[in-house]
Amino acid sequence: MASAMKKEKVAIIGSGLIGRSWAMLFAGVGYQVTIYDIIPDIVEKALKETKQELDNLEKQGLLRGNRTAAEQFACISGTDKLKDAIAGAIYVQECVPERLDIKKKLYTEVDTLVGPNTILASSTSTFMPSLFSEDLKHRDQVLVAHPVNPPYYVPLVEIVPAPWTKPAYTAKARELMTEIGQKPVTLSRQIEGFALNRIQYAILNETWRLVADGILSVKDIDVVMSEGLGMRYAFLGPLETAHLNAEGMLNYCDRYCNTIYAVSQTMGPTPRMEGKVAEQVAKELEEMVPIDKLPERRAWPHTMRLNEHLQIKGNHVILVPYEKQHVEKYHQWMQSEELQELTASEPLSLEEEYRMQSSWREDNDKCTFLILDADRYAETNDEIDALVGDTNIFIKSTPDEEDRTVVGEIEIMIAEPSARQRRLGWEATILMLLFGAEHLHIARYVAITKDTNEKAMRMFGRLQFHETNRTAVFREVTFERTVDEAWIAWLKAATGTYDVVPYGAVQ
Ligand SMILES: NC(=O)c1ccc[n+]([C@@H]2O[C@H](COP(=O)([O-])OP(=O)(O)OC[C@H]3O[C@@H](n4cnc5c(N)ncnc54)[C@H](O)[C@@H]3O)[C@@H](O)[C@H]2O)c1
Repeated sequence: MASAMKKEKVAIIGSGLIGRSWAMLFAGVGYQVTIYDIIPDIVEKALKETKQELDNLEKQGLLRGNRTAAEQFACISGTDKLKDAIAGAIYVQECVPERLDIKKKLYTEVDTLVGPNTILASSTSTFMPSLFSEDLKHRDQVLVAHPVNPPYYVPLVEIVPAPWTKPAYTAKARELMTEIGQKPVTLSRQIEGFALNRIQYAILNETWRLVADGILSVKDIDVVMSEGLGMRYAFLGPLETAHLNAEGMLNYCDRYCNTIYAVSQTMGPTPRMEGKVAEQVAKELEEMVPIDKLPERRAWPHTMRLNEHLQIKGNHVILVPYEKQHVEKYHQWMQSEELQELTASEPLSLEEEYRMQSSWREDNDKCTFLILDADRYAETNDEIDALVGDTNIFIKSTPDEEDRTVVGEIEIMIAEPSARQRRLGWEATILMLLFGAEHLHIARYVAITKDTNEKAMRMFGRLQFHETNRTAVFREVTFERTVDEAWIAWLKAATGTYDVVPYGAVQ
């Protein structure tokens, strides 16, 4: 059993936001984690809250690692003595506040306690490792392992060696990061800003110049990223994108290098983020997200990927996440011209469909479930055989000044001809509407159908949506429905069963 395989010890120094995340990640694969903090009460609090967090993640089906929440928590302990935390640890992850004086003082103390084989990794976002390790006896054991917040959900870790870091430790740190399920990159040498922040700052600088020069508003700048570049970069880096955008990279360079160089020459000097422009940017942002709404807005994107680990059970349908195993059947369906017309989609190759499946899982603006015929599944115990369609919610708008509601566009497709006329689409739509309202904070739904799709129009009418627009050119009808408590109660009564439970294999 997984729980029997206890591993070596890892010390976490500093039990704030980042320290707790690291503790959970290491415990997830069975490392014996000891958390130390300068304030004893904080360790107690961190342990208590980490337990709650692990239990919650397990309930939501979001727990990482290969053990139960209880098994993971059993791997975590706390201490108020630095010496005890470090004794016997193979790896120390330092997570104290981002102040060089605090880091230097801590490393000087750690230097007197640590043996020759322990890796000392700092979570620092900004300090090159040489800045706090130069004078240490054990300086060749020090490196940076910089996570991205929140590390439990964002896997990148930048591993940055100091000039004197032993390459074997850099390699071992990378191995450990991979083992705990993170995605490490190793810089060949230390550099200010590491890689992530250098790229982030290049983007910030150009967006700043575009706003300062009055070319785009703050809101539109963010649309360029969230509705354009960001969608691409969620699953392809800029260099592979270039490679694919031409007949390979050399061809891309041939075609575009002059243009890219010429545009880059117009970019102007590095701006300082201060003064009048800073005030203007802040004002526009506060109109989009008022300061008191920041916590709500922060929570929003992470909820979108909830469905990766969940299934929704109704009476006659079960909604499951779109997995690789489903792609072939989905692809067969989408060869049908009728379905292409109804869903306004182009036929894709099988390979493109696989890419689409993985991109949908990454996509923060879209929530997809496949629909299983629950009766058929009860008979055959075969998910592929029981698949009948899919349902999606696209997040159409985010909180803004005029309209702070989150709007979701709902789509439903029953692809399997034998499953039609059995009200499976009706039930699946209700389950999805409930899930969107309760888990994705959707406050208003939109549904768009072809004006020839009588069945869909009747269904949205019966679901208490109201027609709000018709476009003759596209032959589309738009329906809308605001979410309120009475409607949620009506939806629940209409379906009878609505259970959101973890998805392993469907049981
Ligand atoms: N928060 C982020 O978004 C983020 C992202 C990536 C990296 N980091 C880096 O991670 C590190 C920790 O950040 P955080 O957000 O968790 O900070 P935090 O303020 O939430 O937690 C810091 C913890 O360190 C403790 N502490 C202070 N001095 C200490 C000492 N001498 N010994 C032991 N513990 C001590 C504090 O009591 C506190 O619990 C920083 O270097 C930060 O730059 C933070």
